[in-house]
Amino acid sequence: WEERSLRPQNLAQYIGQEKVKENLSVFISAAKMREETLDHVLLYGPPGLGKTTLSMIIANEMGVNLRTTSGPAIERPGDLAAILTALEPGDVLFIDEIHRLNRSVEEVLYPAMEDFCLDIVIGKGPSARSVRLDLPPFTLVGATTRAGMLSAPLRDRFGVVSRLEYYTHEELTEIVERTGEVLEVPIAKDAGAEIAKRSRGTPRIANRLLRRVRDFAQVRGNGEVSIELATNALDLLQVDALGLDEIDHKLLITVIEKFRGGPVGLDTLAATIGEESHTIEDVYEPYLLQIGFLQRTPRGRIVTHLAYQHLNMEVPNN
Ligand code: ADE
Repeated sequence: WEERSLRPQNLAQYIGQEKVKENLSVFISAAKMREETLDHVLLYGPPGLGKTTLSMIIANEMGVNLRTTSGPAIERPGDLAAILTALEPGDVLFIDEIHRLNRSVEEVLYPAMEDFCLDIVIGKGPSARSVRLDLPPFTLVGATTRAGMLSAPLRDRFGVVSRLEYYTHEELTEIVERTGEVLEVPIAKDAGAEIAKRSRGTPRIANRLLRRVRDFAQVRGNGEVSIELATNALDLLQVDALGLDEIDHKLLITVIEKFRGGPVGLDTLAATIGEESHTIEDVYEPYLLQIGFLQRTPRGRIVTHLAYQHLNMEVPNN
């Protein structure tokens, strides 16, 4: 159905992330030529850039099944053992938010990744003994927002480590046009570019904005997305010219008005605007840093002159 076909099914359909794609296509071809399992892959970068999609594509290109789970969903070692023993040879296991695996689960993962085996402890106390269980060879694809949040032993067990970058306006425009075709919404060229420009370098945001703009086009217009309609809808959605939303604005304005532009510590800032520190760090901050509106210093976050200008606020002269 729609949700599935919106995602590209193979590397050729996948727009952007050219370096990651080129590397992966070589490693996938080589593994297939040798009739081996693809080495474990770690994908990291801000949310919404296509980590889950890439795991689907890897499984698809390798011609194997994909099993999907996440760090928080695997609570005990037994949960992971159940998943691993159910895999078929060559399968891809995708673990999203892999940095949130707990310590005891991580320790089961090490021998599984390295030697495709499980060490199971049977019994308790002096009579306890360890049994080695062979697993089918598999490819682990791990995803995390920041590679620095992984323990070193886990990170070291990935043979391929790829960082996903924010998309350019051109790439996002292509993605919006592709999605428009899948959803069968006619989009004017300049309207597609406008949605792309306001998507914070993120395909997930671009596709979400396109759906909302499509709603306006259907209800308030004739179903077609013109530049006027898109601009109107995006303004009503409170997404500004650079794609910053209410929370981005609240964050910047709070630093400016309550903390004289900073520096302010992450936790203080989080408490003041009523968001989780982690959400600020993983979702909001990376893009504000990327466009140079925010800086991280040892003493906390600082808002830059660029942000004052964008918000039409006066830069203090002290
Ligand atoms: N839809 C979402 N992300 C995409 C991408 N990178 N390429 C093509 N279509 C997409």
